[in-house]
Amino acid sequence: MPREISRVIHWGHEAYCPINIDAIRLESAPNFPLYFRSGPGRNFILYCERGVAFTLEVRKRLVENKIAHLFIQQGDRQDYSRYLADHLAAILHDPTMSVQEKTAILYDSSQAMVEELFTTPFAHENVSRVKEVVRHTVDLISDDNFRLEDLLRNISCDYYIYTHSVNVVAYSVALAMQAGYNDHATLREIANGALLHDVGKSKLPREMLDKNDELSEPEWEQVRQHPQMGFDMLSQSHAIGEIALDIVLHHHERLDGSGYPHGLINSKVSPFVRIVAVADVFDALTTDRFHQPRKTSFQALHTMQRRMFPELDVRLVRSFIEMLGITPRHG
Ligand SMILES: [Fe+2]
Ligand SMILES: [Fe+2]
Repeated sequence: MPREISRVIHWGHEAYCPINIDAIRLESAPNFPLYFRSGPGRNFILYCERGVAFTLEVRKRLVENKIAHLFIQQGDRQDYSRYLADHLAAILHDPTMSVQEKTAILYDSSQAMVEELFTTPFAHENVSRVKEVVRHTVDLISDDNFRLEDLLRNISCDYYIYTHSVNVVAYSVALAMQAGYNDHATLREIANGALLHDVGKSKLPREMLDKNDELSEPEWEQVRQHPQMGFDMLSQSHAIGEIALDIVLHHHERLDGSGYPHGLINSKVSPFVRIVAVADVFDALTTDRFHQPRKTSFQALHTMQRRMFPELDVRLVRSFIEMLGITPRHG
């Protein structure tokens, strides 16, 4: 089951989101209440009040009562995101947790963080948090015990701008390593750029992003501004490096010059931008969007290899196929 903080269950006048139980640290006191579902009506019941310590006893009761899922209220998502960010280092260094469990929590945490990035006014301190999460992501993906399929298992097939950004990080870092980039500083820069590549879309009217109908030409014109808008937002902060900025500005450039905003051709498109472009296109094709049902991995790769052949870097698409060939995702 995909783990999505974005999945919201509306219940009466309230809305709840599932969270990862393993993310709640023993002896911590989350500043958001925890709920579980029970009974024939599957009602949401308060399990642990805001500010109450999550002790071993509390945790044991979960197991005894066979409670496998916990929920938070939708309004508490920002606090949950901050809680995850505060505890992420401890979670990722916890020797009692498997790499699979850590991978799932890191995915949740990244998603919650990106959601905050897109739904609150842009603040430069958010960029530091992005960098922190990215550092953990690169460390985890380059860990000897890491398996790509554990990460891919968490990848959501529903398109949300938040999950898309996190998915593109996962694919980009894995593809960069497959293509021979092993230096952590470079991988982090690629991941920073991948996570923030669509951040300019946060400046677009929300209704436009959620629109069910085809976008009009003037609306498309606005959407095409997002690489430049993202670049402008981030270049002021001086917090991310040139590789990441290049990715944000140029991820829609295509090798045949058909891309935007600058219509760059071949060698003008950096290898890092090419990596993220492959990851971006693949995730867009394999997730459900408003007008387009998702393709299987096979169909998406076929499209990228044939139809998009002059646009994307063929060698990278081949590396990507090899990489997914080892760990097929869904068909
Ligand atoms: Fe984009
Ligand atoms: Fe994108």
